[in-house]
Amino acid sequence: MADRVAMADSGENIKKIRTSDLRIGMFVHKAESPWLSTPFMFDGYEVSSQTEIQTLIDYDIETVYIDLSRGIDVGETPRPIPQAETEGLKEKDTFSVVFTDFHLADEAPVDMYWKDSAGEFKMTLKKGLAINEEVVELLKTRGIEKVNIPNTQKPLYEAYLRRIERMREKQKSDGFADAFMDPRKVEAHYNFMNDYHAISPYALMPGTKTGFDIFVRKAALINLSHKADDRLDGDKLDSWKAEDINLLIRVLKEEMDAYQAYLMEHTKKSSDTKARASFVRENSKLIVESLAQNPRSEVLMRETKQSVTDLTDVVMRNPTTFYGLMKINNYDYYTFTHSVNVATLSIALAMAAGIDDPKELADLGLGSILHDLGKSKVENNLINKPGKLTDIEYVKVQNHVILGYEMLKGNKSIPERALLPLLQHHEKLTGNGYPFKLKADKIHIFGRISAIIDIYDALTTERAYKKAFRPFDALTLITKTEGEFDKELIAVFIKLIHKQEK
Ligand SMILES: [Fe+2]
Ligand SMILES: [Fe+2]
Repeated sequence: MADRVAMADSGENIKKIRTSDLRIGMFVHKAESPWLSTPFMFDGYEVSSQTEIQTLIDYDIETVYIDLSRGIDVGETPRPIPQAETEGLKEKDTFSVVFTDFHLADEAPVDMYWKDSAGEFKMTLKKGLAINEEVVELLKTRGIEKVNIPNTQKPLYEAYLRRIERMREKQKSDGFADAFMDPRKVEAHYNFMNDYHAISPYALMPGTKTGFDIFVRKAALINLSHKADDRLDGDKLDSWKAEDINLLIRVLKEEMDAYQAYLMEHTKKSSDTKARASFVRENSKLIVESLAQNPRSEVLMRETKQSVTDLTDVVMRNPTTFYGLMKINNYDYYTFTHSVNVATLSIALAMAAGIDDPKELADLGLGSILHDLGKSKVENNLINKPGKLTDIEYVKVQNHVILGYEMLKGNKSIPERALLPLLQHHEKLTGNGYPFKLKADKIHIFGRISAIIDIYDALTTERAYKKAFRPFDALTLITKTEGEFDKELIAVFIKLIHKQEK
């Protein structure tokens, strides 16, 4: 029998039980999961379906805290379940709205449901999660235009509409034509994306002279915080790390070269694991960025391969900590950072799935680090557009797959299978992906791996204009898809992420 746990902040009513003892009608106060960056489900919720219990079990969450003042105890009979909260949600208890009426980048103001292929409301975007391109793409892939909202949340939806209307009025009075985004913010965002490169504080050593200026970004403001000729103050460095602050350098050849030289001179030699891992990551980012400018360079291709070897090494040496070591902060959402993240996680997933041939891992890693190379040939302002893409823009962005392939095809130093992550990372097992609409039997394991990792990294990365999904929420969304991704690989991936220590 489970023990009653005294918790200073929650009083006597909190009880720790095994997840397998959870029943419908219990109120989950907290679920313990060491791999989540924030406590998950901090608001708590009443268990209303068996699937919710199964989800916790699937995520290897062994124990949960239940609140006896808000739900039943072990051994008590469940109370009737409130209808709108359950998965048996009936159409008559909902109203439907056009999904694209929601502003991209907003937080979902209500719970949104859409039907699965059996016609049941099983798919959900929970209130508070970000409405981002990946979610939009998932719905688009399935041809879903409308979502349903429980009638009980109508007041919330109406308040959202009023807020949008007020915003629209204000923008009109300010003389802006675009009702969705403040053009000044969009402009500032583009300038910031084009002019700065994010760096990691863990790559910096106290007492060293950097040779490049360092800027700190807080909200939309960017301030010079350290001058190139000064020595780095240890306290300042510690506070950057503690606050998980967004550090930037200018995208100028001298500054970028100075940063790379600094990494070679100071970071590479560090005996600290985190510094060494951040060297690999930071250096890889710079190399892929250079390769995108000059894809025919043999020197850069060799360096890229070396980066993949180094990334593989970090994962192998740190099987339960590489995630924290490599994903340094959430604000670094540049294409090349994403490329390095996707390579790291793809290699880790492949290893967890039993691929151990070094040559195979090297090809997968190379293909993953290059998977979005074609984005360098798509207008920058489309890649980082903080709002809805028009249909024409969407086609242009999708084109990055073919453009990337054209940049690399015929290059003798790239094995053919290493191009598979690039070619197939937007394909879906259902045949609804792009560019070739390949079905499951035509999608290589490299393509299956990179498709899962690509969406996972995009969802969990914070942007200037929208918040990130927590790992749990991103995994839930990916798990809830309908056969678009490889189920067995998802299961392996969930375990892999779960094993990561904070
Ligand atoms: Fe892509
Ligand atoms: Fe990608």
